[in-house]
Amino acid sequence: MCSLLWSSIAMCVALILLQVAIVHPSPSHHRITRLPGQPHVEFHQFSGYVTVDHKSERSLFFYFAEAEKDALSKPLVLWLNGGPGCSSLGVGAFSENGPFRPKGEALVRNQFSWNREANMLYLETPIGVGFSYSSDTSSYEGVNDKITARDNLAFLQNWFINFPEYRNRSLFIVGESYAGHYVPQLSELMLQFNKKEKLFNLKGVALGNPVLEFATDFNSRAEFFWSHGLISDTTYKMFTSVCNYSRYVREYYNGAVSPICSSVMSQVSTETSRFVDKYDVTLDVCLSSVFSQTKVLNPQQVTETIDVCVEDETVNYLNRKDVQSALHARLVGVRRWSACSNVLDYELHNLEIPTITTVGKLVKEGIPVLVYSGDQDSVIPLTGSRTLVHKLAKELGLKTTVPYRVWFERQQVGGWTQVYGNILSFATIRGASHEAPFSQPERSLVLFKSFLEGRPLPQEF
Ligand SMILES: *[C@@H]1O[C@H](CO)[C@@H](O)[C@H](O)[C@H]1NC(C)=O
Ligand SMILES: *[C@@H]1O[C@H](CO)[C@@H](O)[C@H](O)[C@H]1NC(C)=O
Repeated sequence: MCSLLWSSIAMCVALILLQVAIVHPSPSHHRITRLPGQPHVEFHQFSGYVTVDHKSERSLFFYFAEAEKDALSKPLVLWLNGGPGCSSLGVGAFSENGPFRPKGEALVRNQFSWNREANMLYLETPIGVGFSYSSDTSSYEGVNDKITARDNLAFLQNWFINFPEYRNRSLFIVGESYAGHYVPQLSELMLQFNKKEKLFNLKGVALGNPVLEFATDFNSRAEFFWSHGLISDTTYKMFTSVCNYSRYVREYYNGAVSPICSSVMSQVSTETSRFVDKYDVTLDVCLSSVFSQTKVLNPQQVTETIDVCVEDETVNYLNRKDVQSALHARLVGVRRWSACSNVLDYELHNLEIPTITTVGKLVKEGIPVLVYSGDQDSVIPLTGSRTLVHKLAKELGLKTTVPYRVWFERQQVGGWTQVYGNILSFATIRGASHEAPFSQPERSLVLFKSFLEGRPLPQEF
């Protein structure tokens, strides 16, 4: 096909390269040579953009850390943080379960990184979060669960074109907090897509301190505050009878908080104080940043934030020009990278969509689901999640296959667990926060490994 005329050689080489690129699309342009300040590692890292909509140039940013060892034989795990609007790169990868954590100018190894067990894919979603962007800023307005799920599906489809060796790999999706919406909704779309063309080898779903059913999740907060001594008996009574939290949040998002709810919430806020981290009631707050924590008590922040001390380091690191260039990242339409988006305008009424029913559909289709809870979180407390899982098991007619019992990490109790029908599991992580892998990395890794292997949590030590 290629003539050997000198003038055609360049064209010929280009054609061959093009053909090679089509047959074996190379992710080389996504390859990270080295992150600034990073210690030497043996595994490969990739990051960059996948365009999910060419017309408005909607591009989602990902960071992919292959498994430390035997990447070829390990599963693929997609990790999603919540918010809505918080970054899986900054929160998930760099503060929770990724291979590195920023420390000053450098990155230090996370000994309990989840890439010890899997190839970890972190996605900044939806559009407008982190380095993900659209050239048309109207894309940031009125974003909702439907749009997010659709874009996430398009992302995965296109990502597989860049990484074809992962197409057939066992795929797990894990998410936290508001990702209790993203993960089941994306999984449902994947199963629908598979009916036309079997692309996704979905093997399981795990959800950490997830929003699954608005009222149950939010109203379990009152008892958690009360039983941990954060509010008085009198206030507890008001917070459960006069105005509960789901009513307050609903009123807030409808733009009309009633005087009675306003007064109850004000009493709750006064007693709990802003000097306690609501995402881990046993954790000290970072005093220098106590003022940024006040936002947490505001319903605009009802879902996700992270430990501000870690956040500061991550924010500094990801805003370095050399780091952005090593990551193949661009800032489009924003001046700085931030852990939770300032430009995204999310349809917050979507909070009330009950995704526990979607979880039920996944289980019915044979997808194993684990709901786990850091047990020191008051934002999405374990009690609400446990109630929802138990109720779902009953509705699906699933019998208990592992009775409620402790599980172990080393020689200590890592938490409690119960399994229904060998497919639907609940587990707590003892001493863990809303961001469980951040506060209990070792226990979280044990839980993650059991989940991937489809085994109940360790019963003995
Ligand atoms: C995926 O795996 C199945 C069964 O193991 C095999 O038949 C199929 O050819 C594989 N597809 C790709 C694209 O590798
Ligand atoms: C919360 O308050 C709403 C409105 O007053 C009520 O309908 C609902 O039953 C309450 N939920 C709980 C769990 O108390």
